[in-house]
Amino acid sequence: MPSLTVNDHPLEFRMDPQTPLLWALRDAANLTGTKYGCGVGDCGACMVLVDGEALRSCMISLAEAEGRSVTTIEGLSRDRSHAVQQALVAEQAIQCGFCTPGIAMSAAALLARNADPSEAEIKAGIPNLCRCGVYPRLVRAIQRAGRAMRDLEIIGGAPAPGIGAEDAARAVPAMRER
Ligand code: FES
Ligand code: FES
Repeated sequence: MPSLTVNDHPLEFRMDPQTPLLWALRDAANLTGTKYGCGVGDCGACMVLVDGEALRSCMISLAEAEGRSVTTIEGLSRDRSHAVQQALVAEQAIQCGFCTPGIAMSAAALLARNADPSEAEIKAGIPNLCRCGVYPRLVRAIQRAGRAMRDLEIIGGAPAPGIGAEDAARAVPAMRER
C-alpha cells in the first residue's frame, strides 16, 4: 500500500498504486481543495507541491508519490495566512475560484524559488489556466505576495476561516493536529 506524507501527516492509501494522486487526495483523504479540471495535465487545477515542486496531481500515480511529501492547498496554511492566499484575496484575483487552489500552489512554489519575479517570470512560472481570465490581477497578486515574503509589505486581505481547525479536521483526518 502506497505510503506518503500529506500535509506533514504520514498516510497509507489502501488503493491501487496506479490511482492518480488527485483522486487519492480528493476521494480517500477528503482533501477536496485540489480540483479536477481536465484530468490530462493541461489546466493545473490539480496542482500540489511534491517535495516543494508544483506538480499536476492528475498526472502522478500513488506509486510515483510513494515516500514523498505532498502539500495541498489545505496544508499551505491552516488559516489562509500564506502570503499568496492573502495577496490573491487583496488583489481580487479570484472570480469563480475553481482554478485558485492550483494557482496558489504554483505561485507558492514560484515564490519559494524567486520572491521577486518579473511579469515574464510569472507568466513562465504559472502554467495554470483560468477560464475567468484573472491573469492581469494574478501578476499583481503574485508580485504583492513576493513583497510580503520579503517583509516589504503586510497584507491583510483574507479573513480567517469561520471554523476552528479542530472542527475542520473532523472529516479530514489528513488535517488533524498531532
Ligand atoms: S486536472 Fe490535472 S492538469 Fe487539469
Ligand atoms: S477564477 Fe474562474 S477559472 Fe480561474
